[in-house]
Amino acid sequence: MNRISHISCLLTALTASGLSTSCANDKSPGVIESVASSSPASAQPPSIADEQPRDYPGLHNVVAYHEDCYSGSVPEGDAGFDTLASLGVKTIISVDGAEPELTPAKARGIRYIHLPIGYNGFDDERKLQLVRATRDAMRVGPVYLHCHHGRHRSAGAAGTICVSLGWATPSKMVERMKVSGTSPNYRGLYACTRRATVIPASAIDAVPPDFPEVSHPAGFVKAMIELDEVNERLKLIEKANWRVPDSHPDLVPAAEAGQMADLFRLLAEGDRAKSRPSGFAAELRNNESLAVALEGMLAGGDKDGKKLSTQFARIAEGCNHCHVKYRD
Ligand code: HEC
Repeated sequence: MNRISHISCLLTALTASGLSTSCANDKSPGVIESVASSSPASAQPPSIADEQPRDYPGLHNVVAYHEDCYSGSVPEGDAGFDTLASLGVKTIISVDGAEPELTPAKARGIRYIHLPIGYNGFDDERKLQLVRATRDAMRVGPVYLHCHHGRHRSAGAAGTICVSLGWATPSKMVERMKVSGTSPNYRGLYACTRRATVIPASAIDAVPPDFPEVSHPAGFVKAMIELDEVNERLKLIEKANWRVPDSHPDLVPAAEAGQMADLFRLLAEGDRAKSRPSGFAAELRNNESLAVALEGMLAGGDKDGKKLSTQFARIAEGCNHCHVKYRD
């Protein structure tokens, strides 16, 4: 479990794994023509003064953290990439575990950088990479940071980056995270922003700038092991009646459920699921939605232990059902 040793802004050394599984391979062919023919009208960019996130075609929950530095959802299909082009975005930085859709981005002259993070924060190394990637990319044009929904992880990344670059205070960026809708139960993400300090240019310059456009996901078995670890941590949380266990004050219930949901999503979109009968991916999808519901309950502050345990038990049934059918 100790994949990450030197954790700084992270509340825990236990979590923050599971960032790197498999993912969204939504192939979008035929993108090139649509680009050549349409030079999209420029969209109204989000403003740092917005008190609500903005929605655009194919792009949701968009919030400005600094002029030309935005956080939001994964771009959906051509519409999402067209919106990014019309906002003048030149670089997309994904902090989600899923593989980015490179083709529609490239067709619009947009560069992708893929630096996945967990639901519970990120270590210093990843922070420095995000900071350098953003600083350098901003010299070319506007930057769009995204995770899946653009509510928690990309918001935490954007807030931390802007503080680290000296563009805003932690409290201002915590306010922006609230505009993004980051749940207060994602303590590790808020802690990253709250504890961020301005990083000297020399330290940023020392970070190797060759960032990947895709960080390849870990294999199926590794993801299962991570799933098992998350599951064990959720069991501890359940034992503490769905609160932070005294024995593990660093555990964040909603973050664990979020990570579980993410692992199921990435597995469902991964190579193993593609090579199996469709029932296999359907099992993963089903478990994903069960975990998403559990995450929603925990992130929303639901304290009904019985209801939470019932939901958690459904996930355990899902694990067993699939193991009996496809593994054992
Ligand atoms: C879609 C079906 C499916 C679901 C759902 C599923 N698993 Fe698995 N799991 C598998 C398969 C298949 C393997 C065997 C992988 C292999 O050995 O290639 C496996 C292997 C494992 C392993 C052994 C990994 C190792 O060390 O070899 C663990 C632990 C595990 N799963 C835990 C879980 C937990 C916990 C859940 C639910 C939270 C879960 N799985 C949900 C299909 C599933």
